Amino acid sequence: MFTLILFEPEIPPNTGNIIRLCANTGTALHLVEPLGFELDEPRLRRAGLDYREFADVRTQASLGACLEALGQPRVFAFSTRASSCYASASFRPGDALLFGPESRGLPTEVLDALPADRRLRLPMLAGNRSLNLSNAAAVVVYEAWRQNGFAGSGQIVKTGALT
Ligand SMILES: C[S@@+](CC[C@H](N)C(=O)[O-])C[C@H]1O[C@@H](n2cnc3c(N)ncnc32)[C@H](O)[C@@H]1O
Repeated sequence: MFTLILFEPEIPPNTGNIIRLCANTGTALHLVEPLGFELDEPRLRRAGLDYREFADVRTQASLGACLEALGQPRVFAFSTRASSCYASASFRPGDALLFGPESRGLPTEVLDALPADRRLRLPMLAGNRSLNLSNAAAVVVYEAWRQNGFAGSGQIVKTGALT
């Protein structure tokens, strides 16, 4: 339904968690090189991942090549420097969800190439720096999937507020 793109991820356990997140939600995962680790590195395996969970993981030589391979999807970029709240976006099937590397976030030129309403932020208390990459990705993937009725989960889910 969605594609999650990690731009130059650096920390193996974060990518391991995200591989499992994607396997559980039917999200395709593209990793833009250079990566800070080998994809078969033991630390990824130690996260308990099996071969099936790697099935929908692709590496890409550049962000441009990635977007080209995906047919130029609508891209939402996630950054602590964005001003629009992620919960105000309407996600639809085919959207690409782009996250930055752990130590430096997405490059300014990548963010500047997108309109303001496609650069999104997860709220945090004042004075805090950032969420962990895999936690931020999980919040966003579940929000996008929730907005689309958790399609494919085999559950009938009402997305309105509980009363
Ligand atoms: C550890 S954070 C990077 C921190 C980096 N120093 C920065 O300020 O962007 C790794 C990635 O997680 C995502 N992320 C973490 N916290 C976020 C937040 N509050 N809002 C939006 N994205 C966030 C972004 O994609 C970010 O590039």
